[in-house]
Amino acid sequence: MSHAPQEDRVFYRSPRKKYPTAVRAEGILIYDQEGRAYIDGSGGAVVVSIGHGVREILQAMQCQAARIAFAHGSQFTSEAAKELARKIVELCPPGLERVYFLSGGSEAVETAVKMARQYQVERGKPEKYKVISRWASYHGNTLGALALSGHTGRRRLYLPLMPHTPHIAPAYCYRCPFGREPDDCHIECAEDLETAILYEGPESVSAFIAEPVVGATAGAVVPRDGYFQRIREICDRYDVLLIVDEVMTGFGRTGRNFAIDHWGVAPDMIVGSKGLASGYSPIYCVVSKAEIHDTIRDGSGVFVHGHTYSQNPLSCAVASAVIDYVRAHDLVRRAAVRGGYLLERLRLLERHPIVGDIRGLGLMAGIEFVRNRRTREPFDPRLKMNQKIGGRAFEKGLITYPGGGGADGIRGDHLLLAPPLIITEEEIDRMVEILDASIAEVAAEIDAA
Ligand SMILES: Cc1ncc(COP(=O)(O)O)c(C=O)c1O
Repeated sequence: MSHAPQEDRVFYRSPRKKYPTAVRAEGILIYDQEGRAYIDGSGGAVVVSIGHGVREILQAMQCQAARIAFAHGSQFTSEAAKELARKIVELCPPGLERVYFLSGGSEAVETAVKMARQYQVERGKPEKYKVISRWASYHGNTLGALALSGHTGRRRLYLPLMPHTPHIAPAYCYRCPFGREPDDCHIECAEDLETAILYEGPESVSAFIAEPVVGATAGAVVPRDGYFQRIREICDRYDVLLIVDEVMTGFGRTGRNFAIDHWGVAPDMIVGSKGLASGYSPIYCVVSKAEIHDTIRDGSGVFVHGHTYSQNPLSCAVASAVIDYVRAHDLVRRAAVRGGYLLERLRLLERHPIVGDIRGLGLMAGIEFVRNRRTREPFDPRLKMNQKIGGRAFEKGLITYPGGGGADGIRGDHLLLAPPLIITEEEIDRMVEILDASIAEVAAEIDAA
């Protein structure tokens, strides 16, 4: 049987959707085959930190590829991997000293979970294996990472295939699971970790994992000050490792190297990050405390784990060049400053009654949409409000990252914004203009329906 030569054979995420063909990109813009330009207002899915088409990165890529692109991590190390690990450790909170490289975020999350488990066994606590996570969270789509994720809509189809893991309440002030207002909050959502540990049995709990700022599931949900400090205390009290999932927030996105730095808390492991190589190559990392590494080194001597593209020299060289670029252009500080400007400008959108909440940290911001601003009632998910507004902005040349399920796992609509850290104030103004028009149009259509 012969096929038409031009027939598209790609298995797309939404097979009925017509995707424009991206052909080139530069700075904060992506261009399609028809010559249309799109502002990359979400860095894809919070990936692109330094902007597209940066010459220094292409040079680093070429240079490394000419020397050696691949050597398997079970057979060789490389200067590129060693150099990158040193640079990452310099950026991390004290105590985090060893870097394990991966090629996907879900893979990195599962690596952290396995590392925690093997560490517990090798230090003589073989009964510790459970990993507690939170509702309204996202840790990835592979089955282990999905089990930890607190997003009912993404989980329910695959539930029979997933291990059961405990979840606690999210630190979601706009929809406080304990019905509190900021002035009578006692950070009950952090105390919920202690409750869960006690119910599960502290002797069985290996680790707690959380995103410092929730990304895909709820749209830039920032915990209140004191939350992560309390979480750290509870983890210490019950001998539970604290893993922070900085796959979206790491490497400068929130205006600090890592989002957890905002609260001065040192986790036991950091999982990061899409921004590590800014989309130029798929590379992620797990950074662990020296003790975790040393316990395995001095115990069995082998971390029973590994992936073919771990420690890939080409990806490591690219990420190294991205870190240099971030430093040379002071992009972490810039994320903090421009992030403040973005939030301030986004407040203009409060003029739309369907805008319930605007929040964020650094250049990671969320807009949550509600049917009723007073009661905070979400829209019927069948309306697909996030897709409608995100789709309208896309047509107008602004890429956002629409998401849903934050309110109760199914309901709740938001747009996540995370432009490259190089964005200017004028470009932010343009983003807000497009959002304003898109929200106005979709709100009017909903009213008219
Ligand atoms: C916080 C967090 N963890 C893990 C992942 C999974 O990363 P990947 O899509 O590379 O598997 C994501 C992806 O959005 C994420 O936001």
